[in-house]
Amino acid sequence: MSRHDFQIPVTFKHRVVFTRNAFSPENPELATILREGGGRRVLVLVDEAVATAWPHLAAEIAGYFKNLDIDFRGIQILPGGEPIKADEQWVREVWKLIDSSHLDRHSYALAIGGGAFLDAVGFAASTAHRGVRLVRFPTTTLSQDDSGVGVKCAINAFGKKNWIGAFAVPFAVINDFCFLHSQDEETRRAGLIEAVKVALVKDAKFFEWIEHNLTPLSLLEPAVLEECVEQSALLHARHIAAGGDPFEAGSSRPLDFGHWAAHKMEALTSYHLFHAPAVAVGLALDTLYSVRAGLAPASLAERVFRVLAGLRLATYHPALDWLDESGRRRVLDGLDEFREHLGGELTVLMLQDIGVGVDVHRIDSVLVGACIDELRTLWQSRSFG
Ligand SMILES: NC(=O)c1ccc[n+]([C@@H]2O[C@H](COP(=O)([O-])OP(=O)(O)OC[C@H]3O[C@@H](n4cnc5c(N)ncnc54)[C@H](O)[C@@H]3O)[C@@H](O)[C@H]2O)c1
Ligand SMILES: [Zn+2]
Repeated sequence: MSRHDFQIPVTFKHRVVFTRNAFSPENPELATILREGGGRRVLVLVDEAVATAWPHLAAEIAGYFKNLDIDFRGIQILPGGEPIKADEQWVREVWKLIDSSHLDRHSYALAIGGGAFLDAVGFAASTAHRGVRLVRFPTTTLSQDDSGVGVKCAINAFGKKNWIGAFAVPFAVINDFCFLHSQDEETRRAGLIEAVKVALVKDAKFFEWIEHNLTPLSLLEPAVLEECVEQSALLHARHIAAGGDPFEAGSSRPLDFGHWAAHKMEALTSYHLFHAPAVAVGLALDTLYSVRAGLAPASLAERVFRVLAGLRLATYHPALDWLDESGRRRVLDGLDEFREHLGGELTVLMLQDIGVGVDVHRIDSVLVGACIDELRTLWQSRSFG
């Protein structure tokens, strides 16, 4: 008998760019990146809502590639938003397009769209030929300030969020700020929740910056919105690159603060409640829990709730109160699913203070219930103009 343990070190370059008008002939960012990889072919996939909001985009992209020494295989438009993650047929559709365009592992799939679109197209790209190169162009606040720089992709299955997926570092992420400004106001504002989240778990100074800029942020003033998006994306990317666990092999998921309840509420509402507003509620719940469990000072909740109110984000959703046959809150199943998704011991990040997280391994469901009661009462007693 014999046993041999080999170490297989693998490193990735995570290229993250912030720019504007990425497909203007004067903008060299994309061309430089494609040249760096030396690939032969490129296929462009666009979120339908983006194509509608930017009617000249297809012509602009085609014009851009005319000047490059690369085999341009055209532009395909597919639905975006949660529907693309809900049905496996869209992954199959992207596989077919990759196959009929003869993309190989040295070719590029460019995906232009919101977080859901990037998740589904990214999953297809990461599994076709065991991975063709993916260049992400996130087009929403949330996808630019969080998911675009992430190294995972997934679609939903078995009534559970992100059940089928892969870890795959994109070849590059090109954040074109221009895209941000065609989202509807609600989506543009709600996506800031991931910036609030990463500030809360990683960077007290950034949280103070958000507090200080709350009015221009809530008014979605472009320069402040863009700065917030960039700072948030960089904090996420730094954590992934330097946090020691890019592919989440351990039990801790600090970037998923507030997400156990959020993911469950999304699934419970059949994804009618979108990710960003669900995270706002989940983050409010876990903030309050942190305080009521005696982990954090009361001032933490006051500051977080002030920011959420300033951003006009709801801190309660009726799905928190939906019960199963035994009278138990269904959202609590989210804790088990959260643990099961990762394996190992239940580990939920709570807060000790702004910028200071703490892993807890047991959640008191009675206290969660009391926090939900408090959130409901708070929400009912507040009115927005
Ligand atoms: N992979 C990860 O690491 C990760 C991290 C966080 C979130 N996510 C996922 O991201 C998804 C949420 O992403 P999202 O908040 O970007 O929402 P989304 O992708 O659902 O986009 C919201 C809506 O806006 C449209 N849209 C996109 N860009 C637009 C633009 N520039 N102008 C006009 N309309 C536009 C979309 O078609 C969609 O209808 C969730 O499924 C979530 O699970 C993934
Ligand atoms: Zn999230």
